[in-house]
Amino acid sequence: MTSLTHILSGIVGDVFDKLELPKDLGTVKVSDRPDLAQFQCNGAMAAAKIAKKNPREIAQTICDALLQNDIFSKIEIAGPGFINLNLTDEFLQSHLKSMNTDDRYGVPILGEGQIILDYGGMNVAKAMHVGHFRPNVIGDCLRSLLRFAGYDALGDVHLGDWGLQMGQIISEFEIRHPDWPYFDKSYKGNYPPEPLFTYQELEKIYPEASQACKDNKDRLEQARQATVKLQDGHAGYTALWQHFIDLSLEDIKDNLAPLNIDYDIWKGEACVHHFIAKIAEDMHARNISEISNGATIIPVSEQGDKKEMPPLMFFKSDGAVTYGTTDIATIYDRIKLYLDLKKMIYVVDYRQNLHFEQVFRAATKAGYTTDIDMLHIGNGTVNGPDGKPFKTREGKAMTFRDLVNTVIAKAMARLDEADLATDMSDEARQEIARKVGVAALKYTELSNQPHMDYIFDIDRMTAFEGKTGPYLLYQAVRIKSLLKKAEENNLTIADDFKIEAKDRALALLLSEFSDTVKLAVRQYSPHFLCEYAFNLAQAFSSFYAACHIMSEQDESLQASRLKLCAMTHDILEKILNILGIHIPEKM
Ligand code: ARG
Repeated sequence: MTSLTHILSGIVGDVFDKLELPKDLGTVKVSDRPDLAQFQCNGAMAAAKIAKKNPREIAQTICDALLQNDIFSKIEIAGPGFINLNLTDEFLQSHLKSMNTDDRYGVPILGEGQIILDYGGMNVAKAMHVGHFRPNVIGDCLRSLLRFAGYDALGDVHLGDWGLQMGQIISEFEIRHPDWPYFDKSYKGNYPPEPLFTYQELEKIYPEASQACKDNKDRLEQARQATVKLQDGHAGYTALWQHFIDLSLEDIKDNLAPLNIDYDIWKGEACVHHFIAKIAEDMHARNISEISNGATIIPVSEQGDKKEMPPLMFFKSDGAVTYGTTDIATIYDRIKLYLDLKKMIYVVDYRQNLHFEQVFRAATKAGYTTDIDMLHIGNGTVNGPDGKPFKTREGKAMTFRDLVNTVIAKAMARLDEADLATDMSDEARQEIARKVGVAALKYTELSNQPHMDYIFDIDRMTAFEGKTGPYLLYQAVRIKSLLKKAEENNLTIADDFKIEAKDRALALLLSEFSDTVKLAVRQYSPHFLCEYAFNLAQAFSSFYAACHIMSEQDESLQASRLKLCAMTHDILEKILNILGIHIPEKM
């Protein structure tokens, strides 16, 4: 089914067409001034230029033709030639009724095929920090949104598990524990199945190893050699490295659990190591790569480049692979595995923009991705009130876990303040605080456009009033309890609608759901959904304040209003699900 703006654009476009004016000038959108009209078409001004006529005159001709159509209750010309349109309540009723027969409320399937979303990039042996918050939340939401749109969207964590850091840690363990079997060349037995250290120890050893390598050249050389040996398949090192992966994955999953963030593909940079030699050979044979000062590079600059575009470094002069090498090999791996792949979307800090530009160009040049869209959604940073990257009160970098826990604790305090959920067990209450905290975090994150930085304001984001996640949860729970009451009182919830003045604003807004989803999908930006959900919750609140639904004497009006409530709840729930926010049963 089509949306109201689409239906209206068709009708108005046809009139333009009959007048031999470009049809797309008849595009209709929701009015910027809902106090004056429901919809507007601004095409008469451009049409007047083409036809060399007065815009109001053209607008009048169009209005005269439109008046033949009985779906309009009012058509007016405003200002220089804006055409303001209002629909009859009958038409609105029939539209809502057809929306209601579709469990997607009119949102069409917008695409198909596989999409890989790369939004993790957490590094092994390093605690997740505040910088991982944004890509994880945005990526996870885009995965839900694109699935709702019809795609088979898959999240790939793309763990940072290769490279010099690994050699630094391995060599540090070797220095501290030379007696461990991993380092014994003549060792023939099985390596310990469980690590001989905890994740906390691993996380502590990494910065120490890294510092030691900075301080001492020989120590750095040792780390380099350990890296090369690991990458060449040294059995003991590989067994030790596997512990790093296992412990880190456990910690990552534990960090993500309260946010219900998940991945479909738990691979890392290391998984594609075995492709690298083959890719290098292929690139060399086809002259895609070049040798320059002993290094292998892929030139990616193009004519017309406005900024300097350095080549992608494939092998450094010492033969080492780079971040770009593993990204190219990962693309190669994906196109071999996902035969229906349509897009690859990377949600990664915008400071990596140049890197992705180089990688995308190199992959295209190599011919790997001719029919695949590649996109880097560069996210900004979360800042403290001082406009600098968010830190703890002690001035330390905020860990991911601290960030989430602080907000959940604040959500609990908010429940206390508002006397909410007081009749529940501690455990049930804790679960509500988690849902409220997660709603606060995710709504704030997703209502900002990905590339914009924003300031982390815990008081604002956890408030039950204003544009916040908790406000939306509160409204959704409120509608649910109203519907429950209606059910207990055996009230009918009709499939038919009776729209009167007090119902119009909410009814019209409900009909904007499909356009909103389309916009969010087209621009890969959930903030349209956040804005819409807030408007919907507010429109519901006004509607509910104006109409005494439970005591309404006109039964068909009451049944229609209850249906509007049910639809509002369903649509809110669908959006919140896409945003990764879950509504508690009660609050
Ligand atoms: N591990 C990388 C980092 O910490 C992020 C990885 C992002 N994804 C990618 N395919 N490059 O910067």
